[in-house]
Formats: sequence, structure tokens, C-alpha cells
Amino acid sequence: MAIPEKFIQDLVDRSDIVDVVSGYVRLSKRSGANMFGLCPFHSEKTPSFSVSPDKQIYHCFGCGKGGGVISFIMEIENLSYPEAVAFLAKRAGMQMPEETDSAEGRKRARMLALNKDAARWFYAQLSQPAGAPAVAYIQKRGISPAMVKNFGLGAAPDTWDGLRDAMREKGYTENELFDAGLVKRGRQGGFYDAFRNRLMFPVIDVRGNVIGFSGRILGDGEPKYLNSPETLVFNKSRNLFALNLAKKSKSGYIILSEGNIDVVSLHQAGFDSAVASLGTSLTPEQARLISRYTNEVIIAYDNDGAGLKASQRAIGIMEKLDIKVRVLRLNGAKDPDEYIKTKGPEAFRKLLEGSENQMDYRLRAIREKYDLSVTEQKSDYLREAVELLARLPDEVRRQVYAMDLARELGLPSDVIVADVERRRDRLVKSMFKQTQKQQTQPEKQLQPPTRELRYDDPASAAAEEGIIRLLYLEPSLISTPGLPPPEEFSAPGLGRIYGALRKRIEKGQSVSTDHLAGELTGDELGLLVAILQKPETLSRSRQSIADYITKINEQKQLRSGGTDLMALRDQLKKKKGYEG
Ligand code: UTP
Ligand code: MN
Repeated sequence: MAIPEKFIQDLVDRSDIVDVVSGYVRLSKRSGANMFGLCPFHSEKTPSFSVSPDKQIYHCFGCGKGGGVISFIMEIENLSYPEAVAFLAKRAGMQMPEETDSAEGRKRARMLALNKDAARWFYAQLSQPAGAPAVAYIQKRGISPAMVKNFGLGAAPDTWDGLRDAMREKGYTENELFDAGLVKRGRQGGFYDAFRNRLMFPVIDVRGNVIGFSGRILGDGEPKYLNSPETLVFNKSRNLFALNLAKKSKSGYIILSEGNIDVVSLHQAGFDSAVASLGTSLTPEQARLISRYTNEVIIAYDNDGAGLKASQRAIGIMEKLDIKVRVLRLNGAKDPDEYIKTKGPEAFRKLLEGSENQMDYRLRAIREKYDLSVTEQKSDYLREAVELLARLPDEVRRQVYAMDLARELGLPSDVIVADVERRRDRLVKSMFKQTQKQQTQPEKQLQPPTRELRYDDPASAAAEEGIIRLLYLEPSLISTPGLPPPEEFSAPGLGRIYGALRKRIEKGQSVSTDHLAGELTGDELGLLVAILQKPETLSRSRQSIADYITKINEQKQLRSGGTDLMALRDQLKKKKGYEG
């Protein structure tokens, strides 16, 4: 890693972990030294994410993620180590040392610059003769000049080399254009423009970078949209079209639609919190991204079977993140764009205000499966609806819905209300039992939460953890005779952590989770933080580390089939006062 140690140290000193984490997680103080909040890395309803102001680390007891301020930014902003350092440097107002950008960081920066230049060029074409067909299409779709500017729409002219030549003139190489997905390679080996004769929608991330493009054909034809391929800077499943604009909306909710045109149309009608999921159905990553900006989403998908299915899937994903979801019914129009064009913005606003909440929506979805004039189906509907209502956390809402349900089926309401409550009781009890079980299985807790890091030999792993903990807390123990090489650790993950630790100590470098974040995977770092939180007494550290070494050696012999059990027994006898 080319970033000077001193720089990292200064950066970490100036980036208080509580400050940084608070930008993403609502932390509250509980008894003790730590702050707690809902983990941003997995969905949960009770806080198991802790931040220690003293140790400047975070750790989630639920998913096992943990580390220092740099790894937190890597994880939550989805950045590489050098990028996370640059991100925090910007935040702390520190100038990055010149040589720090990694080769990959430089390449990303180049690609972002190229994308921005390409977006400017597409936009400029709108006032050139070559852009006339796109301008005509923009008018035909009723997109206002203000929205063209707001979204930075543009025109890809009907030529094979317009963008290529313009970008080459700016100093970009054909290979750079190719890597960015802006040109394709021809059979003769030359390069030609990937986007031709299309209306161009730049895709802009929440930090304002142009990360890719989506180009719509001017009229009918296939493919209707052409999108940038996955590149160093573009990942469809992790971004949403127009979130850069929607995140600034004051509306308090986000409108999720399917199409780019729908989004433009919605913004034009004053609904400035509309986004679209770039032609994929909503992914968990996209939902998590949304949850950073709002806890309420209104789905306005197309009014067809595919839209209905996609809504249901999206509801499931967002519910896990505690996002309140409502679904719009676009009666008489195929999508939000058509709805607004035919009925006007006011009608859409009414629809928004009266949009079904997710409970209504789900109940209706269940109801539609059954024919309520058939007694048997009626009772199936009842059973399924009760099951759903029992999961509502709010008692009043449970009763209101139960009463509605009773009315609908012509049954006495107190019976249905009692039915829902009984089901609720049983649910709560079984959930309680489950958490109890988890807490009374200590051997399970010994295991790291990530499957790839599981221990095959827990007894040896406990000792390996001990060595890591001691070395971290007291690096001078590196001189202890008999310390095994990392390959001899039974758990490969622990071996890697131990190896990285050793390397740094041997080079005289400081060990901290912030320095190690560049060398370990997120899971490994999380495991390290978990290990550091187990108690260790340093008063007899020399003895402890020697005991750990012995334990590792014994376990190793046992694993190799106990070849020499006699020798092992002698060895055990010689050793005094060891409880293993
Ligand atoms: P739609 O076909 O609904 O397009 O696809 P639209 O944006 O609403 O456009 P109009 O109003 O019909 O002109 C929804 C989204 O799916 C993605 C695009 O992101 C599009 O906006 N898509 C669609 C593709 O990526 N490729 C395609 O070929 C079609
Ligand atoms: Mn559409």
C-alpha cells in the first residue's frame, strides 16, 4: 500500500468513528462505554451494532461485521481501501498525498472524467444538426427543456464515430473508451460508437459522478434501451436512476417506478423524489441505498402482470429493512408517464395520497387467490389473512384490520380479533424460544458468523484467537519462541489475520484495525474485532501465549490421527496447571 503510515494515522485521528458512523446510523448511548444502533449491514429490528468511542471501533454482534473508521467507509460506501482513505480525507479536509492513488483508483478517476465529458458531448449535440431527431423525440414525449437540463439528457447522433473522435481529441484512448463501454470493437479491430441514434440518459450516482448511460431508441425498435455494460464504475444492481436528484427531495418518501421516461415525467409534474431501478427488479443493494435517504417508499410500477410481480418482490425486500411501502394502483394507464399525461399531475397527487398501504395491498393479493363464494376457500383465505395480521406489531392496527376482515366475511368481529391475538401470542412465544436457544448455545457463539471462516477445530481456534489477541495488544510478544507460522493455524481465516499482523509487527509498523483494513477482507476484519472483544489478561501474557502455543501443537497432533499418543500423554503430564 503506497499511502504513508503517517497519513493514515493523521486521518484516523481526525475522523472520529462516532462522528463518521453517525452520518449513517442513529446511535444512542446505553449503559457502559459503547453506543448502539441498528446495523447498517444487515436488517434487524433491535440494535446489535455497537461503536466504541474509546477503542474507535465498531462491531455488530448480529452479522459479525467490524473494524475501524476506514473499514466502515469501505463497507458502507462500497469503496476500496485507497478510495475510502480518499473519501475520509475529503471529509476531514486533508489533502491526499500525491502518489497515493492506486492504479485502480487512477483508472476509475479517468473513467469518471471520460463519462462526464461524454455526457457533456451528448448534451451539446442537442443544439447541433446531428441532434435534431433526438430533439424531435424529446418534444414528442413532452419533455420540457428544464427537465432536459435537470437530467442532463443528450443525443447520440446517427454516426459510427462521433463520440469516439470527440473523446480522442480530448486525449482519451480507444481502450479507455472501450473499458467505459462507450465504443465497441469492430471485426477489423477498429472501434465504433456503442450508442447511435438514441436519446441519452446519463446515470449519475449519489455523489454526482456520471457512472454510465442508458440510451432509448427514437421511436419503436429493438432494443428499446441500450445500457452501459458493467464497468469499473458502473454496477446496475447498486444504483438507481435519478437517486442523485431524489435524495434532495423534501417529500419524505421515494417513488419507485420502472422506466427512465416515467421518472422524467414524474419530476416534470413536480414529484421530485422519483427513481427507477435501471431495468432490473429491485435488488437488496438498491433497497439499502434507498434506506439511507428515506423510510417510506411508494411503488409506481407499470400496471401489468410483470409490474405486480415486481411490486411484490420489492415489498419483501424493503420490509426487511423496515421501509414502509405503499403501492399505487394506476387505473386506466399503463405507467406513471401515461397516467400523468392523460389525467394530469393533480390526479396523480390524489392517487399518491390515497395509495394503499402494504397491508391493504397484501390482503388484496391474498384475497385474489380465492373464490370467496366457496366455503372451503373462504376459510383458507381467513387462515392466511389471520396469519398475516398476527405479524402486525401494532395492536390497534391488528384489531382494526381484524374487524374489517370479519365484516368482509360476515363473521363476528370479536371472534376474529381473538383469533388474531391468539395467533400473535403463539408467534411471539416461538420467536422468544428461538432467541433463547441461540443464547444458550455457547459453542455456536464461538464460531465466526461467516461460513467461510468456520472453525473445524474449535479448541485449536480458541488458542489461535488468543495468540492474535495478545499480539495485537502487546506486539513485543512477537519474540516469543515457538510461535507457529501462519500455515500451521487450523483455521485458515485466523491464519491470514495472524499472518498480516505478524508482517506488520516484524516491519515495525503499528497494528490497528485501520491499517489492517487494507490487507484483510471485511469478514476477516470483523472476526478480528470480535476476537479483540473477548477478555484477555495481560498481566501474565508471556505465560498465556506459551500456553496457547502448546494447545495449538497438541491439537495439531490430535488431528493428525494421534500418531504418537504416548508422547502426547507424556507431554501433557509434564505440563503443570494447564486446564485444557
Ligand atoms: P419500459 O419499456 O417500461 O420503458 O422499460 P420506459 O422507460 O417506460 O419508456 P417508454 O415510456 O415505454 O418509452 C422500463 C425500464 O427498463 C429498462 C430501462 O431502464 C427502462 O427505462 N429497459 C427496458 C432496458 O434496460 N432495456 C430494454 O430494452 C427495455
Ligand atoms: Mn414504461
